[in-house]
Amino acid sequence: MMKVLLTGATGYIGSAVTDHLVAVGHQVVALTRSAEPQPGRGWHAQVVGDTADPASLAGAVTPEIEAVIHLAPPSGDVDVDIAVIEALAAPLRGTRRPFVYTSGVWVLGATGDAQEVGEETPTDPIDIVGYRPHIERRVLAEVAEGVRAVVVRPGIVYGRGGGIPAILVDRARQQGTPEYYGVEGVRWPTVHVDDLAELFVAAVERAEPGTVWHGVGESAVPVRDLARAAGRAAGVLAAPQVVPVEQAAEVFGPLFAEALALDQSVSGAAARTALGWQPGRPGAVAELTTGSYRPVEVFGAPEGPETDAAVAAIRRVVAEVEQAQQNELVDRFLSVFRRQEPVWTTGHGKRLSGFEEIETFTRKVLPGAMAESTAVYDVERVLFLKPDVAAVNVRQQPVRHDGTRITDRPEGRPFYILVKEDGTWRVGAAQNTVVAD
Ligand SMILES: NC(=O)c1ccc[n+]([C@@H]2O[C@H](COP(=O)([O-])OP(=O)(O)OC[C@H]3O[C@@H](n4cnc5c(N)ncnc54)[C@H](OP(=O)(O)O)[C@@H]3O)[C@@H](O)[C@H]2O)c1
Repeated sequence: MMKVLLTGATGYIGSAVTDHLVAVGHQVVALTRSAEPQPGRGWHAQVVGDTADPASLAGAVTPEIEAVIHLAPPSGDVDVDIAVIEALAAPLRGTRRPFVYTSGVWVLGATGDAQEVGEETPTDPIDIVGYRPHIERRVLAEVAEGVRAVVVRPGIVYGRGGGIPAILVDRARQQGTPEYYGVEGVRWPTVHVDDLAELFVAAVERAEPGTVWHGVGESAVPVRDLARAAGRAAGVLAAPQVVPVEQAAEVFGPLFAEALALDQSVSGAAARTALGWQPGRPGAVAELTTGSYRPVEVFGAPEGPETDAAVAAIRRVVAEVEQAQQNELVDRFLSVFRRQEPVWTTGHGKRLSGFEEIETFTRKVLPGAMAESTAVYDVERVLFLKPDVAAVNVRQQPVRHDGTRITDRPEGRPFYILVKEDGTWRVGAAQNTVVAD
């Protein structure tokens, strides 16, 4: 157990880092700008400090602090940021205690033809992070002073409905078209916020002094795919449009627009091998399509992680239905059904009783059924009738193979009764209804 001073503890990444530190038994001392207490965050203690005013940090790293994770963003003034490192790291000198600094993959610049670049690649920062490599070097220089200094460079962070992907969702909603920026083939290295938080825990617990780690789960996700998924999360089933960087600059400013348009392929393999990091949460496209960016109405169960996990599992079953239908995978489709007398009434009112009837029908109709068009399935409402029995309302929309909505075809409203047995949710009964107008 360590007592960890965490800057940026109220933020997107900091909230997840807090949760994961606490989950494995560490204590978080949050450095916050405001003295206002924030109950419910899981912090052990709160100290006030402002990274725009390095003098305010004097005394934050008391002798009881056994580790520092610095997540608050740069101020824009290199001298101020160097002074912040000095203020936070100096009290650790000679202790071999960890100091983990958060940088980001943008310090690598465009990675060009190179695939999955590693931590040894020289930095070539874009303007928004221009002096950050300098701060990294300043942090790592603390190794010579007896600090276990470590740098983590996250990719584009997603999950918990937040981060930069949430901007894609908002823009799709506002514009009625999913957008992405720069050129058509642009790719982002990505990481789930909870996977990243586990990397911070691993880094603070066991990274060697002077090491740099890419916090990257997927090395190069086509942003066009992210934009399409963001459109889906926003309820906008339209083809993604690429917005030239100059035009994006009018919305986001030139620095952030350049960052959004940055094409990168970055490897997170080193942390997996050397730190035993196992980023295993859904990928960015899946998370946008069927995860936290599209909230579901939930009834009949208390708010909390258990219900969240059950809803996530139920959404995965419905995603499985969608995948199986879209790709005409008969066995995969059948695998979502419970074996005990399942019943399925199709959108045309044909009732199929028992697994055999469902199987015979599916083998006959599914192959070839998606030749011209297919459908997307979004969970809209989950009612837990019991903790292991759920009534699930789904919205089914006809789409072309490129994911765009076919407007002159009716939607469906599938309704599933799902049952959890032996840890797995399966469809016990299903009914589809075509929406008449
Ligand atoms: N999100 C990403 O995709 C991503 C990717 C790579 C790297 N990063 C880096 O990761 C770090 C955290 O990012 P994030 O996405 O979690 O950001 P965020 O949600 O904006 O959170 C920023 C946090 O820093 C705190 N903070 C801001 N200015 C401060 C100041 N002057 N003094 C003290 N605390 C201050 C904020 O506290 P308040 O509650 O007081 O505002 C908040 O807790 C940043 O350094 C960012 O550059 C992020």
